[in-house]
Amino acid sequence: MKIGVLSGGGDAPGINAVIRAVVRRGIQSYNDEIIGIRDGWRGLLENAFTPLNLNAVSGILPRGGSILGTSRTNPFKREGGPEQIMENAGKAGLEAVIAIGGDDTLSVAYKMADYRLKCVGVPKTIDNDLSGTDYTFGFNTAVAIATEALDRLHSTAEAHNRVMILEVMGRYTGHIALEAGLAGGADVILIPEKPFDIEEVCEYIRRRQKRGRNFSLIVVAEGAKPKGGKEIVYSERIDEFGHISLGGVGYYLAKEIEKCTGIETRVVVLGHIQRGGSPTAYDRILATRFGIAAIDLVHEGKFGYMVALQGNKIVSVPLKDVVGKRKTVDLELYNIAKVFFG
Ligand code: F6P
Repeated sequence: MKIGVLSGGGDAPGINAVIRAVVRRGIQSYNDEIIGIRDGWRGLLENAFTPLNLNAVSGILPRGGSILGTSRTNPFKREGGPEQIMENAGKAGLEAVIAIGGDDTLSVAYKMADYRLKCVGVPKTIDNDLSGTDYTFGFNTAVAIATEALDRLHSTAEAHNRVMILEVMGRYTGHIALEAGLAGGADVILIPEKPFDIEEVCEYIRRRQKRGRNFSLIVVAEGAKPKGGKEIVYSERIDEFGHISLGGVGYYLAKEIEKCTGIETRVVVLGHIQRGGSPTAYDRILATRFGIAAIDLVHEGKFGYMVALQGNKIVSVPLKDVVGKRKTVDLELYNIAKVFFG
């Protein structure tokens, strides 16, 4: 078969491991021809293709980013976009497309079925907010980086008797904040799923002071918001999927904490460091398993499905049960983390 592969949305460590697995399995087991589509759905709109042979994917397993590039292009926001995709895919002879992406990219894969594009999805996002799968690849790496940042902030916070705030990504969910906060021993973890009360946050810090701990570590997810308030927005610019850029809640918190505790407070916004660079061993293995499963799904003719991790098994779930259904944090895990607050 002639199969296209694309990566869309924000990059996540492990995309190249998926592409490598797709190419190796496709060529070696099925005699497929694999065509790389550049920059997500934009490549299909603009005929930006690159053939992928075994050598093209040699050495890419540990590399971050995407050898195909990525974009947040939404063909449904372009005049005649879906029709253009069908025309270009037809001319290129693509019989199926493997779309590696988060909710935005996969929602396009899902809707393109109405135009008869045969798609299989691979769940990718550092945010881990996709339904149908326990984990997306990229998340484990982001958590490892955020945990290392916390470990480093710990010693400087203690040396200076400061409050250190680490702001992490995650959009409207707190998966990264919660897992990194647990692993890094944060004294308070603030997530979008649990709007915070600034007085309560200050009380945790004061509680630590009373027992002689004059420093505190706080992890805040970029989408966390005060009770009754709204998320803090870094830029009002809206992307083609309708998203604004979140960010800045750490600075808001720092001001409030200094006001109510009098303790010097510093902020670190981890930003794209969480997304760049080499994937962890866990993400390399998960991404590889997803890539193999995706090409197998194509050959089973299971279009409109996404490969997923459930327990320790790779399964497939219908895209219709995934798109638009944000997976929020497990509150049982949050309650475990809460034991260590203050
Ligand atoms: O979805 C992944 C993600 O990294 C989010 O956590 C974050 O809000 C967003 O992408 C940032 O996007 P950009 O790379 O466009 O700044």
